[in-house]
Amino acid sequence: MAGRPCEGVEDQGSIVCACFQVGEKRIRRVLDQGSQSVESLGRHLGCGTNCGSCIPELKALIAKSKG
Ligand code: FES
Repeated sequence: MAGRPCEGVEDQGSIVCACFQVGEKRIRRVLDQGSQSVESLGRHLGCGTNCGSCIPELKALIAKSKG
């Protein structure tokens, strides 16, 4: 099995929220579905709702998605 990606493990990009193990790709997907705030991301994924240290990065991703 070496060298093959693990089946059933979603490629979610680099981890943005360490508390909830939420990766950048998952965040982008939720942003694409219309979420435009940290609160909304938190409701969908949990990210930003514990220690809060990922919030600046979440805001940066939101700003980028608004392009
Ligand atoms: S790293 Fe996201 S809430 Fe702690």
